[in-house]
Amino acid sequence: MKASLPPLAATAACLLLATTQAANLTVFQPDVSFVPTPLPPPGPAANFEQIIEQFTTLGRTTVWRSVKNITLAGDTGEPEGMVVLDEQRYITARGDWTAPTVSYNGSIINGTDRTPGAGYAHLEIYDAQGRRVVDATLTEPNDIEYHIGGIDYDGHYIWATLAQYRPNTTATIVRVDPTTLESTPLIHYADHLGGIVHDIQRNRLATLNWGARNTSIWNLGAVNSAAYPAFSTPLAVVANPTFFIDYQDCKFLGHSKHYDYRAVMVCSGVATLAVNVTVGGLALVDVETMVPLYEVPVMMKSGLGAVMTQNPFDIAWNSADETMRVYFLPDQHNSTVYIYEPVRESPYQY
Ligand SMILES: *[C@@H]1O[C@H](CO)[C@@H](O)[C@H](O)[C@H]1NC(C)=O
Ligand SMILES: *[C@@H]1O[C@H](CO)[C@@H](O)[C@H](O)[C@H]1NC(C)=O
Ligand SMILES: *[C@@H]1O[C@H](CO)[C@@H](O)[C@H](O)[C@H]1NC(C)=O
Ligand SMILES: *[C@@H]1O[C@H](CO)[C@@H](O)[C@H](O)[C@H]1NC(C)=O
Ligand SMILES: *[C@@H]1O[C@H](CO)[C@@H](O)[C@H](O)[C@H]1NC(C)=O
Ligand SMILES: *[C@@H]1O[C@H](CO)[C@@H](O)[C@H](O)[C@H]1NC(C)=O
Ligand SMILES: *[C@@H]1O[C@H](CO)[C@@H](O)[C@H](O)[C@H]1NC(C)=O
Ligand SMILES: *[C@@H]1O[C@H](CO)[C@@H](O)[C@H](O)[C@H]1NC(C)=O
Repeated sequence: MKASLPPLAATAACLLLATTQAANLTVFQPDVSFVPTPLPPPGPAANFEQIIEQFTTLGRTTVWRSVKNITLAGDTGEPEGMVVLDEQRYITARGDWTAPTVSYNGSIINGTDRTPGAGYAHLEIYDAQGRRVVDATLTEPNDIEYHIGGIDYDGHYIWATLAQYRPNTTATIVRVDPTTLESTPLIHYADHLGGIVHDIQRNRLATLNWGARNTSIWNLGAVNSAAYPAFSTPLAVVANPTFFIDYQDCKFLGHSKHYDYRAVMVCSGVATLAVNVTVGGLALVDVETMVPLYEVPVMMKSGLGAVMTQNPFDIAWNSADETMRVYFLPDQHNSTVYIYEPVRESPYQY
């Protein structure tokens, strides 16, 4: 851990699992740093009040202006999480499946419904032009927990979950140093996890399970931690009361005055409601109760036909235009970052 980083030592000290692991790196641009120095603040949390204020003017008639498209080089795999560092680096969390899971055809064996399959969890960094900087695999060749989900960035670390690629199984919560891509496993949990946010003010994590059907809350200052492979117990588990969309990727915003200083995150996702009927959307969500605070459908599609919110996203405040900017990465394998801004509307709304 670098001395210049802030004191999360109190966290690490009480977490028995914490052994930093080197990543398996494929470096594409040896002469450029993985991330900007100093690290930029997180786009969503740095200006969360402005983002929330504008978000709560959006609606079904909002017009989204396409600002820029950035095609990412190479096979982008299946992107599941993304953080954008000041538009200088695009960091994707992606799956790479080397053997598929196979359905148990309706049987439940050991609490789940399919074989584990095999693969790798990657974090991949692209520059402002979409060129590859580095590709890291965070998991070993025979790891059963090889599925990475949505990710969050708090200005110092990337937070991720590495899970078995099947419901009701297991996951490990990891913290990654973006300057080296070294990961530190912190918490082992007895459920699948596929999304995470870090509440910077309260030093808590919220992790979402399969289909984001519930969230578990962790106090990083006092995790009931047990030696691997034993499981830790979260502070609380809360059922998600909305079925509008399944959240794929969430970002911590902040404790907003707009919502009585509750912890607010922004999530994106889709729901396939019938054959060929996929609804996409963005939501402001109360981190600790999962209650949606504000929801808007998003029905733009990528050039390849995927609903924009199919896979990961990030959000930031564009102070030059005084508007939020949303980054979508909908497609698998051949991926483009689609950057949109909502057009400010006339005062009356539907
Ligand atoms: C489930 O059925 C499919 C299709 O018949 C088959 O390919 C697969 O092997 C079966 N799964 C298991 C675990 O036997
Ligand atoms: C179920 O779990 C037991 C005990 O861990 C293991 O021996 C067995 O192989 C598992 N079955 C399957 C189908 O994965
Ligand atoms: C996972 O657990 C939930 C809640 O206990 C249950 O409804 C669901 O059927 C389980 N899924 C599988 C695949 O076992
Ligand atoms: C390291 O990453 C490369 C490229 O993704 C992969 O082919 C290789 O199997 C990985 N090696 C290990 C030991 O994980
Ligand atoms: C959370 O989901 C898991 C299934 O994945 C289930 O076993 C558990 O009962 C759920 N908890 C709540 C509070 O909904
Ligand atoms: C779904 O879309 C595909 C491709 O456009 C089309 O071939 C198929 O008929 C559609 N299915 C239904 C049930 O609408
Ligand atoms: C980005 O791509 C989309 C889909 O192909 C297209 O509609 C849009 O005009 C493009 N935007 C820009 C700024 O080039
Ligand atoms: C990307 O698109 C090209 C051109 O359509 C295609 O040949 C290639 O197979 C695609 N790559 C992947 C990884 O899907």
